[in-house]
Amino acid sequence: MKFLMLCREPRLYSCRRLLDTARHCGHQMDILDPNRCLLKLSQNPPHFEVYYQTERGRSPYLLSGYDALIPRFGSASTYTGCALLRHFAAQGSLCLNDETAFLNARDKWRSLQLLAQAGLPVPSSLFAGSEYESKVAVRQTKSPLVLKTLKGSQGIGVILAEKPQSAVSMLETLGQANVPVLLQEFIAEAGSADLRCFVIGDRVVAAMRRQGGEEEFRANCHRGGRGEKVLLNEQQTRIAVAASRALGLDVAGVDLILSANGPLVLEVNASPGLEMIEKTSGIDIALQMIVYLEKKIAASVKMT
Ligand SMILES: Nc1ncnc2c1ncn2[C@@H]1O[C@H](COP(=O)(O)OP(=O)(O)O)[C@@H](O)[C@H]1O
Ligand SMILES: [Mg+2]
Repeated sequence: MKFLMLCREPRLYSCRRLLDTARHCGHQMDILDPNRCLLKLSQNPPHFEVYYQTERGRSPYLLSGYDALIPRFGSASTYTGCALLRHFAAQGSLCLNDETAFLNARDKWRSLQLLAQAGLPVPSSLFAGSEYESKVAVRQTKSPLVLKTLKGSQGIGVILAEKPQSAVSMLETLGQANVPVLLQEFIAEAGSADLRCFVIGDRVVAAMRRQGGEEEFRANCHRGGRGEKVLLNEQQTRIAVAASRALGLDVAGVDLILSANGPLVLEVNASPGLEMIEKTSGIDIALQMIVYLEKKIAASVKMT
């Protein structure tokens, strides 16, 4: 098979692991930067082409013949990356997380709506339009509360406002800068810890408990959080799998937080990192992703 991984930093652990594993399984894999692509549309009949320019001054070449795409681009490349996923899907390539699912996961408010619609437990949250008075919005929640930019990741854009006045001033500042944010109840009893559940298809293949560092409520590894292997109970497993499915993802990193009223889904990541979770769980997740992709391709060939 011929795979294309869309990624801006091929040296990252996750990309290297997926590349080595795909090759080990006998596949060919290119790793290309979505921002170096040109998408071309033409009519009668509709025609979808993608060109790639390796570097400035170089002649572009046509990309084609990929059986599947593995999207691993960051949030700064979401728009272009997703446009590429749709373009390649129109050519008949499969995606390990398609464009729609990816876009669902990259918008924190949209994700929460879809999760809640699927009957999944999420923290109480608010999203105010730009003309809605900040202090009135904040009055509709309890303090302390968490503010989140809709497109943030790795803990960046997640802010704790201890007092209503701080939440109001942060909301006004972000509003002025045109950065949309949501407000969320702060789950203090979680003690700066969460559960990262790695879901592939309808299975949780690995999970870890992450504990935020000292004086840090965010448990993200990128913010100094420490991971340890954890076995999920039946309820946590069911919620994690259902959360991935609610967004339409094949592969997901579901973040659960343990509240006094049970586990709540914080967010669902469409390109979850492999390093910390492979190291803490000892599970070859890259292999499980490639095997899942092989099965998905085989199933689609059978259908056509
Ligand atoms: N409502 C909340 N209450 C308590 N802690 C939270 C809450 N929301 C997020 N956190 C902490 O912040 C971290 C990052 O939040 P998350 O929503 O997962 O965004 P990101 O995409 O940046 O990882 C979580 O892993 C969790 O530790
Ligand atoms: Mg997270």
